[in-house]
Amino acid sequence: MAGGGFVSSGQVGNYEGRVTGFVIITCLVAATGGLIFGYDIGISGGVTSMDEFLEKFFPQVYKKMKNDSGNVNQYCKFENHLLTLFTSSLYLAALVASFFASATTSALGRKVSMTIGGVIFLIGAVLNGAAQNVQMLIVGRILLGIGIGYANQSVPVYLSEMAPPKLRGALNIGFQMATTIGIFGANLVNYGTAKMQHNGWRVSLGLAGVPAVIMTVGSIFLPDTPNSLIERGKKEKAREMLQKIRGTPNVDEEYSDLLEASEAAKEVEHPWRNIMERKYRPQLVITCLIPLFQQFTGINVIMFYAPVLFKTLGFGDDASLMSAVISGLVNVFATTVSIFSVDRFGRRALFLEGGLQMLAAQIGVGVLIGLVFGVSGEGSFSKGLGNLALILICVYVAAFAWSWGPLGWLVPSEIFPLEIRSAGQSINVSINMFFTFIIGQLFLSMLCSMKFGLFFFFGGWVLIMTTFVYFFVPETKNVPIEEMNRVWKNHWFWGQYIPDDAVGLANHHHKLDV
Ligand code: BGC
Repeated sequence: MAGGGFVSSGQVGNYEGRVTGFVIITCLVAATGGLIFGYDIGISGGVTSMDEFLEKFFPQVYKKMKNDSGNVNQYCKFENHLLTLFTSSLYLAALVASFFASATTSALGRKVSMTIGGVIFLIGAVLNGAAQNVQMLIVGRILLGIGIGYANQSVPVYLSEMAPPKLRGALNIGFQMATTIGIFGANLVNYGTAKMQHNGWRVSLGLAGVPAVIMTVGSIFLPDTPNSLIERGKKEKAREMLQKIRGTPNVDEEYSDLLEASEAAKEVEHPWRNIMERKYRPQLVITCLIPLFQQFTGINVIMFYAPVLFKTLGFGDDASLMSAVISGLVNVFATTVSIFSVDRFGRRALFLEGGLQMLAAQIGVGVLIGLVFGVSGEGSFSKGLGNLALILICVYVAAFAWSWGPLGWLVPSEIFPLEIRSAGQSINVSINMFFTFIIGQLFLSMLCSMKFGLFFFFGGWVLIMTTFVYFFVPETKNVPIEEMNRVWKNHWFWGQYIPDDAVGLANHHHKLDV
C-alpha cells in the first residue's frame, strides 16, 4: 500500500454492522488516492522519452540521443541530473509534506488533509501541463509531491477508520492495487499521447488533474471518521456517525472501544522515545529495513523509467511505450495474486518466492544486456532477444507485485503495538519516500557507470533481503496485534529483546485503529 498508514488490527471485534454505502464510497476514495500516486509514478518515464518534451526542456539530452548513430554508449544516453530531478523531486517533497500532513490530519481531521492534498496536487498538474520552462516543470512536480504527501498520509488513515475491521487488511492491499492501476493508466496515456503531433506531453502531465479533481470534490462531501471526531472532542457526533456508517444503531461495543483507544492514545506522550526502547528493537529494525529493501529491489527503475530503459535497449519509440504498457498490466494482474494468497500462504512464503523469482529474472536481464551491449555500451538487440528481455522484466515485475509491493506496506502496519504505532508508520513512509527519491535520482547515472552490472547490483540486494526475511521476519498471518509479542519472544533472534513480562499481558487496546 503506497501510503503506508493503514493499520490492520489483527483482532477483529464482533461488531454488528454491514457493508454500507459509506464503505463503498470509502473504497472509491482509496481508488482515487492510489490512482494519483500511481499516475505520477508511471507518467514521467514516458514523458521523458518523448522527443518534443526533451527538445524543449532538456536539449542536451535530446542532442545526445539524436547523435546516436549506433556507435554511442547506450548506457549513458539519458544521463542528466536535471532530467532525473524532474522525476525524483516529487518524492522528496512528499517526504517533507507527510510530516506536516500528520499534524493537520490529527488537528483538523482526515477530510481537511485530503482536500488540501487534492488542491495542491491540482495546481501542480496545471503547472506541469502548462509548463513553459524547466522551473515550471520542477515547481509543478514539487507541488504534486506535496499533494501526494498529504493524500498518502490522510487517505489510508481515513480508510482504516471507515472500513469495518474485517475489511481493513483487504483495503490495505486495495490501495496498492489502485496504485498499480494508476501506473498502468499512465503507461496507456503515454502510449496514446506520444502519437500526437504536438503537446502530447502536456496532455500526459495535465491529465493527472482528473483523479485529483475527483479526490478533492469527493473529500468535501465525505463525512469525518468517528475516530477523528472523538479525537477532536465531538463524542456525540462520533456515535451518530458510527451508527450511520455501520448501518445499525447497535454500535456500543465498537464505540466504547474507540473511546478507550482514543484515551489510551492520549496517554502515549513520547512515541519517538518509546520506539527507541530495547523491547521495540525488532519492530524498529524491521520498520527501517522493509521500506529500504522494497526500494532496493530496483522496482522503480522499471516503474519510472521503463520507456527510457527500453529505448536504451534499442527499442523504437512505439515499442518502448508499448513495453511499458505490458509491464504495467502485468503489475496490476500480479497484485491480485497477493490479495488471494496473502492470508492463505502467508507473508513469508510470498516474500521468499517473490525474492527468488526476482533474483532469477535480474540475473537473466543482466546477462542478456551484458552479452549484447558489453562494457562499451555499443550494440542493439535483435527482435527475439528484445522480446526475451521484455519477458524477463515482466517475470520480475510480477514477482515484485505479489511480494514486496503489497507486503512492503502491509507487514510494517501489522507489527506495532499502540504506543509506538504512529511513530512507526511515519518512519516507514518517510524511509520509503526517501529511497524512492534516491533511486529516482541516481538510476540513470548508475546505469551509465555500472552498465549491465546494475541488474546484478539490485539482484545482490534482493539476495540480501530474501535472506533477511528468511532469518528475521516472523510470519504475521492471522496473528492478532496484541499477540505479536509472543511471536517475537519465541523468535530465535528477537526473543532476547523481549522481556518476559511483555508476553501474556493482553493489550486491552487492541481494537484501536491508527
Ligand atoms: C512501491 C512503489 C512502486 C509500486 C509499484 C509500491 O508498493 O512503494 O515505489 O512504484 O509499488 O507498483
